[in-house]
Amino acid sequence: MKVLISDKLSDEGVQILKKEKELEVDIKTELKPEELKQIIKDYDALVVRSGTKATKEIINAAAKLKVIGRAGVGLDNVDLEAATARGIIVMNTPGGNTISTAEHTMSMILALSRSIPQACASLKAGEWKRSKFMGTELYNKVLGVVGLGRIGTEVAKRSLSFGMKVIAYDPFISLEVAKQMGVEVMELKDVLSKADYITIHTPLSDETKHLISDKEFALMKPTAKIINCARGGIIDEGALAKALETKKIAGAAVDVFENEPPTGSPLLKLENIVITPHLGASTEEAQVNVAIEIAEAVRDALLGRGVRNAANYPSVDPQTFKVLEPYINLCEKLGQLSSQLAEGRISQVDINYSGPITQKKTDPLTMALVKGFLEPVVQETVNFVNALSLAKERGIKIQESKSATEEEFVNLISVDVVTDKTKLTVAGTLSSNNKPRIVKLEEYYVEVIPQGHMIIIHNLDKPGIIGTIGTLLASKKINIAAMTFGRKEAGGKSISVINVDSPVPQDILEKIQKSENIISAKVIKL
Ligand code: NAD
Ligand code: MLT
Repeated sequence: MKVLISDKLSDEGVQILKKEKELEVDIKTELKPEELKQIIKDYDALVVRSGTKATKEIINAAAKLKVIGRAGVGLDNVDLEAATARGIIVMNTPGGNTISTAEHTMSMILALSRSIPQACASLKAGEWKRSKFMGTELYNKVLGVVGLGRIGTEVAKRSLSFGMKVIAYDPFISLEVAKQMGVEVMELKDVLSKADYITIHTPLSDETKHLISDKEFALMKPTAKIINCARGGIIDEGALAKALETKKIAGAAVDVFENEPPTGSPLLKLENIVITPHLGASTEEAQVNVAIEIAEAVRDALLGRGVRNAANYPSVDPQTFKVLEPYINLCEKLGQLSSQLAEGRISQVDINYSGPITQKKTDPLTMALVKGFLEPVVQETVNFVNALSLAKERGIKIQESKSATEEEFVNLISVDVVTDKTKLTVAGTLSSNNKPRIVKLEEYYVEVIPQGHMIIIHNLDKPGIIGTIGTLLASKKINIAAMTFGRKEAGGKSISVINVDSPVPQDILEKIQKSENIISAKVIKL
């Protein structure tokens, strides 16, 4: 498999990938979008930092791509929707650069409070202007954190140790968690109007784009200073330039820009701003951390050792993956079988997990089941990543539930497929050697090996059925590998499932269907 590293990555990460004999690693940085589009078709994985833009166009040209690894946090340079639609796993390294970015934010706050860059430039220019650079203490000042996630929390902790009062706006954090940190959570407008320093730590999204614009600057104190070490675009740069020029606020420190590099930005010319060229994560430690983290994650995903830190796939560490693997296999079989057996227009698939498996992460199992379910019916490549979105696109509702242990089976995974004609039930478990077994088909208890070519027959429970079917199959030299029967009462309706070693030709199937005491017969391929 081929891996393309298209932005500069620390050698510690590169070596992790190069060490694997199944992986061929190319490093090609500074590619123009057209160049990347040309070559991406040959690669199974793409590793980027923030330089490479993995746009929809690039993703759609990436015929073999399975994984995009982002060494860093922000995924705004990866079209997640396009990747998900194409079944490409997108992973990042959430924790690797948190401390570095929090420390950079603290540097910005300190630089702002004492005008360090401006004072340094003035002294180097031959001046000695001590009164011009009168500063303010952080002690007893109010810090407003917008986005109390990993970095916001680390900034809050450090600021508390400076004796600052910390208030925050983050609609997705509980009041209790914030309180334990010593942070008071309030509405955005209150944070903006009360804070002496306002620091932004949200992701850039449709919701946070221009979260801070003219209206928000109008709420701030004239002495307020704002810091953005998150993403360009969360603060409206035009509005910020205006607020600084008109002294609506006292200062700003900006590490990230709407366009990078910010050539021609009005911010570059202002006196009361400290700017750095997106350096939040630029420390030796953070770069090694994120390079190792992403290389290991990409390697494991490519080599089937589990997926972690994926934005469009549930994270499964290698140990959990080992436990889940046989169930993933079972779920794929349950999906394939139920989709081939279901008659009519499918509207809903209900999946029920019971037994100790309910204590594990079941999302990958549901994804596997839906993948198996859609594989026989859709043209597009279905995989774990795009299965749920493809089902949604087709209007198929997927419902997952968990219940207490079934008495007969330690773990049981049961699927009900609802169509406009009927409701089909298929349930399965693992055998003692971890192989998938179908234990319920419709209302019948069975013990079926879900594998290869199968004939599923509804018949009347009368003597001679096995002989008839055996003779018909033997006439075409089709070997029977296994047979199982399920019935509710002697002489009534029953089900027969036959595993055969080769495909069943249409004429033989028709003869089986027309045989005495046979109600219906269907061939299935798993
Ligand atoms: P995180 O996911 O841990 O935290 C983000 C927080 O923002 C979450 O708590 C979330 O609830 C909150 N949030 C989301 N939408 C919000 C909204 N509309 N209003 C208020 N809060 C909202 O992320 P993180 O690792 O702390 O990273 C934060 C930001 O820093 C990201 O934008 C990331 O890309 C950026 N970053 C920049 C650098 C750099 O080099 N400057 C380095 C690392 C991360
Ligand atoms: C990140 O999102 O991790 C940072 O912006 C750092 C980077 O882009 O590499």
